[in-house]
Amino acid sequence: MPDTLPLLPAGRHNLPVETTSFVGRTHALGQLKPLLGDARLLTLTGPGGCGKTRLALRLAAEVAERYRDGVWLIELATVTEPALVPRAVATVLGVQDTADSSLSAALATALATCNLLLVLDNCEHVADACAALIDAPLRESRTLRLLATSREPLRAAGEVTWSVPTLELPGRGQRRRLADVAENESVRLFHDRARARLPAFALTAENTEAVAEICRRLDGIPLAIELTAALVSTFSVRELLGLLEHALPLLVRGKRSTARQATLRATFDWSYALLGEQERVLFRRLAVFRGGWELDALAEVCSSAAPGSPALDRSSLIAVLAALVEKSVVRLPRFRRHVPAMQPGGVPSKFRIRLAFDSRYCCAGVGDCRRPRSMRTRRRVPPASLASPPPA
Ligand SMILES: Nc1ncnc2c1ncn2[C@@H]1O[C@H](COP(=O)(O)OP(=O)(O)OP(=O)(O)O)[C@@H](O)[C@H]1O
Ligand SMILES: [Mg+2]
Repeated sequence: MPDTLPLLPAGRHNLPVETTSFVGRTHALGQLKPLLGDARLLTLTGPGGCGKTRLALRLAAEVAERYRDGVWLIELATVTEPALVPRAVATVLGVQDTADSSLSAALATALATCNLLLVLDNCEHVADACAALIDAPLRESRTLRLLATSREPLRAAGEVTWSVPTLELPGRGQRRRLADVAENESVRLFHDRARARLPAFALTAENTEAVAEICRRLDGIPLAIELTAALVSTFSVRELLGLLEHALPLLVRGKRSTARQATLRATFDWSYALLGEQERVLFRRLAVFRGGWELDALAEVCSSAAPGSPALDRSSLIAVLAALVEKSVVRLPRFRRHVPAMQPGGVPSKFRIRLAFDSRYCCAGVGDCRRPRSMRTRRRVPPASLASPPPA
């Protein structure tokens, strides 16, 4: 796979120039290219910072030649009101409302006759508006294709969702083969971003295993790796590894153009703001466990009410948990992602659930997540009173 974007004809796209190296994703692109040919609407989902936007832009550039009318990116992170979504799309496509038709109707007519790829980026906070906008054009046109990125599905007719995995992690068995570790996707990203901050940075026999361990601890999340690697001019790799224990690098503000991604905490806050009340209650209860939980333990914690936080019986718990999974706040083990395991009655009681965000930086400000010593064993069921957060 080429490491640089293909040169696209001017006037047929508005994709941004890549300003940093693009790492890995060969396998993902191999799967997504045919999928985007078949699906009318393909939505890349996953937690904040997992690389949805970056992958979508790369995919769009690599398939651009398929579309006679080009590839057009609509950046929605800064569109705060759902009502402004049609205007954002119309501005990019140069569509205007007329005396006879509203903007949405004019857009529907224009889109229905085009052979283009529309990339709707960062949709989760305006997901319903996006679904409403594209419904009619998708029904009327055979040649329109939509690629969306969102922390949750748009739930539009004909949507195909694809969960973006985090970057490949170095295996522990590779310890002595430094060349292999250096080729790993997560390690390469760390290396590239560290060099951008400190040009003398190099992977050596002394620091490569520590870099690999940092990537593992950060679960291969590209944003987390970038924010941590940016600290190499201040801390050694070994110091960074130690600091990860205190989640410090994850809270440090990086120099980024998007406030939403300035820290991992900010990334999480964006997702938390989009949760419903019951989802927030469950999230705060989940956050008392570090690393993961089993459903039985969770059901026990949630079965009794606490001040400001209602009890959740097992079937409501499963429904709310399913919503948290759909919003990419909670993740299931990889092999269960596409299994309808979240249906009431179909959930094995022993499966392990994890927060998609590190509970240490999620907790501050959203509830009291302090865990007494007695709760440090994951499988233990904490007394409900300890798992209950104060009112938000
Ligand atoms: N494959 C990759 N190669 C290089 N950098 C990457 C890659 N994937 C992601 N990144 C970088 O990691 C950061 C987070 O990626 P991105 O913005 O695509 O995440 P996202 O899933 O869209 O997050 P959000 O939900 O906040 O929109 C960005 O700075 C991006 O450039
Ligand atoms: Mg994004």
